[in-house]
Amino acid sequence: MQGGNENMPDAIDSNLIEKIENLRNALHRHNYRYYVLDDPEVSDAEYDRMMQALIQLERTYPELASPDSPSARVGAPPLDKFDTISHTIPMLSLDNGFSDEDIIDFDERVRRFLKTDETILYTAEPKMDGVAVELVYEKGRLRTASTRGDGITGEVITANVKTIESVPLVMQPEAQSAIPSVLEIRGEVFIGIEAFKKLNQERIGQDLAPFANPRNAAAGSLRQLDSKITAQRPLEIFFYGVGIVEDVIFESHWSMLQTLKSLGFRINPLIRPRVEIHEVLDYYKVLREKRHELHYDIDGMVIKVDRISLQRQLGATSRSPRWAIAYKFAAVQETTLLEKIEVQVGRTGVLTPVAHLKPVNVGGVRVSRATLHNEDEIEKKDIRIGDKVLVQRAGDVIPEVVKVFASSRDGSERKFQMPKTCPICGSPVIRMEGEAATRCINTSCSAQVKERIKHFASKGAFDIDGLGDKLVDQLVEEDVLQSYADLFKLDEETLANLERMGPKSAHNLINAIESSKTIAFARFLYALGIRHVGEHVAALLANCFNSIDDLIRCSREDLEGIEGIGPTVAESIVGFVAQEENLKTIKRILESGVQIEVGAPRIAGALDGKAFVLTGTLTSFTRRQAKEMIEAAGGKVSGSVSRNTDFVVAGASPGSKLDKAKDLGAEIIDETTFKKMIGV
Ligand code: IVH
Repeated sequence: MQGGNENMPDAIDSNLIEKIENLRNALHRHNYRYYVLDDPEVSDAEYDRMMQALIQLERTYPELASPDSPSARVGAPPLDKFDTISHTIPMLSLDNGFSDEDIIDFDERVRRFLKTDETILYTAEPKMDGVAVELVYEKGRLRTASTRGDGITGEVITANVKTIESVPLVMQPEAQSAIPSVLEIRGEVFIGIEAFKKLNQERIGQDLAPFANPRNAAAGSLRQLDSKITAQRPLEIFFYGVGIVEDVIFESHWSMLQTLKSLGFRINPLIRPRVEIHEVLDYYKVLREKRHELHYDIDGMVIKVDRISLQRQLGATSRSPRWAIAYKFAAVQETTLLEKIEVQVGRTGVLTPVAHLKPVNVGGVRVSRATLHNEDEIEKKDIRIGDKVLVQRAGDVIPEVVKVFASSRDGSERKFQMPKTCPICGSPVIRMEGEAATRCINTSCSAQVKERIKHFASKGAFDIDGLGDKLVDQLVEEDVLQSYADLFKLDEETLANLERMGPKSAHNLINAIESSKTIAFARFLYALGIRHVGEHVAALLANCFNSIDDLIRCSREDLEGIEGIGPTVAESIVGFVAQEENLKTIKRILESGVQIEVGAPRIAGALDGKAFVLTGTLTSFTRRQAKEMIEAAGGKVSGSVSRNTDFVVAGASPGSKLDKAKDLGAEIIDETTFKKMIGV
């Protein structure tokens, strides 16, 4: 018996092994096409089916498990601690330059060291503001990944790095590329700016402390002992260098990058190859402007001698190579005078002290105000009216006061006192135990009413065109509006009689209000302005409830049962619907003809036969989600622009697809327009 069956399992096994191998190879390839080339070949549904089939097979035959299976991206069992590893070649740091002179000096140093008068060619790269890692591939397969650590030894974070979709678990060589037997490759792991904001929103929803910046978020995500947590973080990578490479000799840095690219590694498309030093300086200026359009943070440019033979001759000091330098972007900080502190009242009644500054140019932008956050912040930084202060602007965030120059005081400076009553309505203000914010408790305070209406009409909410901030202020001040529900009662005559309003703009505004009346559930919830219910939480709620009535009836426990919603958010929602006044307002909105669309896309079927291409980073959902939504509405999504493309959805930092779209006459739409099209 035994003997007769002996060959059978082998026969099955070889088929099975082949089947699993084929699935794995195909999934690696599709993953690469999607995350590295940004040019998928199969639908997401197809990809998911293949992944499920593989996971199922691996579960049934655990003996056929493989450490570099595409299924490894979901994370591995948690560790107790990280092992350490020595880098074969130390991971050095870079010298910094801060001015064109510093870079000219660097070029002269290089030529002096090489004893040459010849022009040196450099490769100029964006300096990613993330976390440096080293990955070791053996025979084309990812074996270990580690952090830079102190440059000599790092921590082994293989399971975490495997969760990053743009990291090949198995190299994906183009036809002519030979796989080196050993490749140590280095790069920077980062989180995009919008993805970072979304991650923080989620954390706030779960009552977790938000990360201070994208770099900290990336570092924190990579240092998780449980890689399943890392798997949920939107980490990305760009590769920029190598350690040991066997079997291949590179003649230049640029050709090395090209080889890495041909093996399936993601290389920053903004790298400028082989330029003379004056072109490097020109490119620095281009990059400095461009950084604001990128979907990730960069903090400067890295300039590298391109020829490897020259790099060898130049060598390194114990700290940094002599063949490279980082040209850092100037910190966007300036000194100015704090003239006065004004207290503003926001939508939820929070009193925010705002510094009025003597106008100053900070990194090309005129700054005359900066947020001081709250009373504690002013106390902590000892900010006084009349102080000389350092202000800073980072990305698109509101400028803030970093510190004061206390030594410049002449005694005329005055301490700030938070008012005891609301500066707008005169009602008493309160500061809750354990909270930094002081609030005006009068929900009818005109400042709160104005801000609530502005929020209600904003882009992510009812998106009412033509209802600008000034007009809202005017309508509230003239007592035309007391609540956002009153918007739907406005008539052309009342509007046309207002100062600075004519019959035409009145007519347009009424039309805009009318057409905003059909609204997706998530937008409606967001529009209500419930504390802690941002766009993300609103989308979570809209997914879990079938109607506004369902939400009104649900308990705190029901809410806390929703993934992504913590006690603070739950409490806030329950508190909101417990107030009779709020329920009345919702009722009035619905009675004035507002239609909430739940679930299905607003224009189901209206995308029938329409061909979409997605490019750049979308902020409200992943590409996969966007694809699913388009497909659900009857549209198709393809990876590249052709004559058949109807719409190109351009997210942040769109790629070359946009140029092609312009050439071929496809309609380019932004994310907001796209969201409206699919009714979210
Ligand atoms: S080359 C020996 N290229 O900057 C050469 N580094 O200050 C070292 N970084 O630890 C690295 N973008 O984390 C290089 N395009 C780039 C980079 C880059 C960011 C980081 C890297 C390194 C740090 C050095």
